[in-house]
Amino acid sequence: MKVAILGMGTVGSGVMEIIQMNRPEIERQIGTSFSISHVLVRDRYKERGVELGGVTITDDVDEIHAADIDVVAEVMGGVASTRDMLLGFLQKGVHVISANKDMLAEHIDELSEAANRSGAMLMYEASVAGGIPIINGISQGLNANRIQEVMGILNGTTNYILTKMTGEGWDYEKALDAAKEKGYAEADPTNDVAGFDAQRKIVLLSRLAYNRKVDIGKVGTQGIDSVELGDIKAGSNAGLTMKLIGRSAFHDDQLSIEVAPVFLPDDHQLSSVSDEKNAVYIRGNAVGETMFYGPGAGGRETASAVVSDLISCLRRMERVEQNLVPAYEAAITEDVSPKR
Ligand code: NAP
Ligand code: HSE
Repeated sequence: MKVAILGMGTVGSGVMEIIQMNRPEIERQIGTSFSISHVLVRDRYKERGVELGGVTITDDVDEIHAADIDVVAEVMGGVASTRDMLLGFLQKGVHVISANKDMLAEHIDELSEAANRSGAMLMYEASVAGGIPIINGISQGLNANRIQEVMGILNGTTNYILTKMTGEGWDYEKALDAAKEKGYAEADPTNDVAGFDAQRKIVLLSRLAYNRKVDIGKVGTQGIDSVELGDIKAGSNAGLTMKLIGRSAFHDDQLSIEVAPVFLPDDHQLSSVSDEKNAVYIRGNAVGETMFYGPGAGGRETASAVVSDLISCLRRMERVEQNLVPAYEAAITEDVSPKR
């Protein structure tokens, strides 16, 4: 089975590292071997800081189309041209994995329709909350529920900035520079700090949670770009912690959805979610309240979700090939019980 990775920056290099680190485990789960045959980048000659021996590095997507690839993992960003590119793959029946919330929040309905028409899979676990398995959590773990509310911290960069401003007294610029340095922020961090990154994520989660199309243009969105250290200190003195919160609720066929900075009591569970971590509450009518917590940004952390989608996709392909019913777990054959 052949895979192409579109993009080899912070997340793409994390994908390569995980595959190199865990290949035997990964292939055991899939049930067969696979290769990363092509990587698409803008600059073929740039040093990537990751082992790419045996991989064709190209700046021409047509080379990937010609190579009879089974799955593409898109970790390059971009909206209109990336939508066109991925639509081209889906229409041919090539399975698509994407971490690109900017593009997905606008175009997921048409990509999903194209996937349904061709029988290809469209997977996007990495697009929301970095390494936290929230997409799988909603679409599989909680699908017995009518979900009523989704609420939480959905952007790692702003949570890192607010944590450093609150705990260390850093000013906004210093904290933003550190978030960029750590690979949490987008290439252009405007969407992070202005709340649009969290807006896209609450749209994707809400669409899945309520099984409804969600118009991104109708999501009230406020970021932290005008927050000052004095505001945060005033909150701290009153026992309050500022967090950028995305929230949606679905009740009586009515959706309410917004992103805004909110002061929470210091003893609220979300107040202790620090640095680039994300945390999301999902409330369902059967399960009650569940909470998902973990790394919301970062190369290897996000790549963990991309590779997880890749494993699920290749495993499903392999089982279809073998005429087996797709199952929840890989074939578990080895016994590691303690010896008495
Ligand atoms: P990045 O470090 O800027 O890497 C982007 C990569 O894509 C680069 O290798 C770049 O090639 C390539 N690329 C960009 N546009 C291209 C084009 N038109 N054609 C071919 N190659 C192109 O970005 P990143 O942080 O890895 O993020 C990638 C995606 O994952 C984005 O959609 C982002 O929103 C999403 N994401 C990121 C994180 C995170 O923590 N960083 C978390 C979740 C999701 P060159 O190097 O040659 O320029
Ligand atoms: N820039 C994003 C964030 C990356 O800070 O949350 C993860 O989507």
